Amino acid sequence: MRTRDVVVGRIRGSVCCVLFASALIVGGFSNALLGGAPAVETSSGSAEVDEEAEPTDAPVGTLAELMSLVILPTSNALLYAPSRPPEDEAGWLELQGQALTLAEISRSLLDEEWALDDDVWVADTRLMIEAAKTGFEAAKARDLDALLELNEPLYQTCVTCHDDYAVSY
Ligand code: HEC
Repeated sequence: MRTRDVVVGRIRGSVCCVLFASALIVGGFSNALLGGAPAVETSSGSAEVDEEAEPTDAPVGTLAELMSLVILPTSNALLYAPSRPPEDEAGWLELQGQALTLAEISRSLLDEEWALDDDVWVADTRLMIEAAKTGFEAAKARDLDALLELNEPLYQTCVTCHDDYAVSY
């Protein structure tokens, strides 16, 4: 018990020192920048950056946000294309971009930060990746028949995973 307290104390102490040291480094660094060449302006005009924040590769949104803000609208674009085909070149390019976005965001669901396990999740995600790839190819080929054929399998990729993970959407 005593040993543990000492260890915890040491860890707390060293975390404290690390924070203090990095505050000095960050502070010193930004002072150097402020004192040096006036080169650190962002395009928004405000160069204020949270000095405490470490650069991080952590996800920006939540899984629910990826679903409702990226996966739902991009898959809907593919699902509605057969009944409301793009009217011009720009429309087809937009559809290509939506299919590509769906494919790439689906690929990122395989990353460990999103994957809920390493078997069923992976299999379900791959179904969506394949459907999005098919959609991308169909949009590039301006192939409305292929897009119509994709409708049911694409929709089923959503249902399959939501069933497996008891998502009531
Ligand atoms: C690999 C699994 C998987 C696939 C494939 C999948 N989803 Fe999801 N979806 C989830 C999970 C898990 C949640 C619950 C997220 C949460 O609430 O944190 C979810 C939630 C959602 C939600 C609700 C988000 C909210 O705001 O609560 C929507 C909308 C959604 N999915 C749309 C789709 C669509 C459309 C597709 C198919 C194109 C799809 N999902 C494919 C796993 C999946």
